[in-house]
Amino acid sequence: MKAIELRNNYLKFFESKQHKIISGAKLIPENDPTVLFTTAGMHPLVPYLTGQTHPQGTRLVDYQKCLRTDDIDEVGDNRHLTFFEMLGNWSLGDYFKQESIRYSYEFLTDVLGIDKEKISVTCFGGDKDAPRDEEAAKIWEECGIDKSRIYFFGKKENWWGPAGETGPCGPDTEIFYDTGAPACSKHCDPSCDCGKYVEIWNNVFMQYNKQADGSFKPLEKKNVDTGMGLERMTFLLQGKNNVFETELFAPIIENVRKLSNNPNEESLRIIADHMRASALLIVDGVVPSNLGQGYILRRLIRRSIRHMRKIECNPDNITSIMENLIETLKEMYTELEENRELIKSEVKKEKNRFMNTLLKGEKEFDKIKNRLLEENKSEIPGDLVFKLYDTFGFPPEVTAELAKENNLKADMQGFKKCFEEHQEKSRQGAEGVFKGGLADHSEQTTKYHTAVHLLLESLQRILGPHVEQRGSNITAERARFDFSNPTKVERDVLDKVEQMINEQIDKALPVTCQEMPLSEARKYGAKGIFDSKYGEMVKVYTIEGFSKEICGGPHVDNTGKLNHIKIIKEEAVSSGVRRIKMVFEN
Ligand code: ALA
Repeated sequence: MKAIELRNNYLKFFESKQHKIISGAKLIPENDPTVLFTTAGMHPLVPYLTGQTHPQGTRLVDYQKCLRTDDIDEVGDNRHLTFFEMLGNWSLGDYFKQESIRYSYEFLTDVLGIDKEKISVTCFGGDKDAPRDEEAAKIWEECGIDKSRIYFFGKKENWWGPAGETGPCGPDTEIFYDTGAPACSKHCDPSCDCGKYVEIWNNVFMQYNKQADGSFKPLEKKNVDTGMGLERMTFLLQGKNNVFETELFAPIIENVRKLSNNPNEESLRIIADHMRASALLIVDGVVPSNLGQGYILRRLIRRSIRHMRKIECNPDNITSIMENLIETLKEMYTELEENRELIKSEVKKEKNRFMNTLLKGEKEFDKIKNRLLEENKSEIPGDLVFKLYDTFGFPPEVTAELAKENNLKADMQGFKKCFEEHQEKSRQGAEGVFKGGLADHSEQTTKYHTAVHLLLESLQRILGPHVEQRGSNITAERARFDFSNPTKVERDVLDKVEQMINEQIDKALPVTCQEMPLSEARKYGAKGIFDSKYGEMVKVYTIEGFSKEICGGPHVDNTGKLNHIKIIKEEAVSSGVRRIKMVFEN
């Protein structure tokens, strides 16, 4: 079964169990400053898992693009990926353990045809926060899973969430596929890392909302959140040894192998994984930079280039490698095809920037190395790792890898400290201007949300339809808005934008919200993201006679409630992306 068939079978199966298919969200979470990336299918559903009603009902299913960077250094073994796809189904206060486990069992054995003897499961063993999950274990037994293959573990293994610091979480039951490899020891069980047992699906029984103080508050409605790793399930179903042998990666790896004079498996896997993640990040509006998501993208591209050099593959091949990757994956991710030129040009630009600094950085590295050797030392201190990063654009892990190749160590803890100190300073610098507002937080941010809709529409009317939203960040003190535009926006143009916004505020236009299917929203002329494939319901906010946008809200009900705005800053974020900061006048 190909990965795309697995995805479609999953959606169809849960649709037949009265689940509504919804579109996954972007890799960049909206309105969640606690994490950089969408790391699980439940992530975009947090508001609904904590009590809000979902316009599609109480049974949902989707596939979600996810990125986890904590495993970045493990990519190269047979399981770990940065970008991966999670298939998920949810019950929002609807069914609970009984149906959830039975659906999983039915899907695995009936639809995928997996022999039940290959399935092992783990359940929560109980602690001060929640009882031992005998109920889940009993349901598994009733399904036909032998008691000897039902395990109980503690929080480390059988508790999931929250995705950030706070939010919905609970005990889970994890499903493992036994590859049939011999047990690595007599203690080998699903919690073991030897690779005999591969985790394929996780059913979380979300009953708690973790609070900022660390306590667990019971949720009013109990939910189910499940996640299946698409790539893993695919390689197991195909009887392959790892994800890199499936149709998702093999053609990419073979192409890079051909372009290399000295290939090794680990580097080929790293390149394939990182280039795939990079392409999908670029699709979702990330550009390489030194901060946040942009910095992760930069690291992924630069680490790929480092490995290309290692396997003697000319980094100039990066665009043709991308071309091949897009061809390989475009059926699964049609957005790759749609953004083909953007992806290629972003990786090419980053390659050029990196190659320019790499030569200088390597010289500097050699100087540092020689000095250390003279002094009979073997560790590069953190401040020098930081200097290589800050002045020479060397990602710290590149320094660490180079160090390893030269039998040296790099003080990554020390680097982290320097990095954090530096970030703190620049954050204080950037935010300092906005300190001191005492207005009601939620009321102010709601007003800024509406002001941002006025801003986008005004920018498009004045600069042209090429202007697209690339991100926004709102605090009670100001709104920050990123958008696509090739050049600087001059002050006289900003004045016009400001004037157009303030005119709409003076006109006191009503702001209304309607729910409609996505296809209707498109016909209605609403701006927003149309990458949905299932025509689900969305919210559209209309500022009467001025703008229509798909948005989760909230907004004020009349533009007359806003003070006049002032654009206080316009600057570049990266090539082709500009940033505006605006504040309300008092
Ligand atoms: N949210 C759960 C996970 O990521 C399903 O494993």
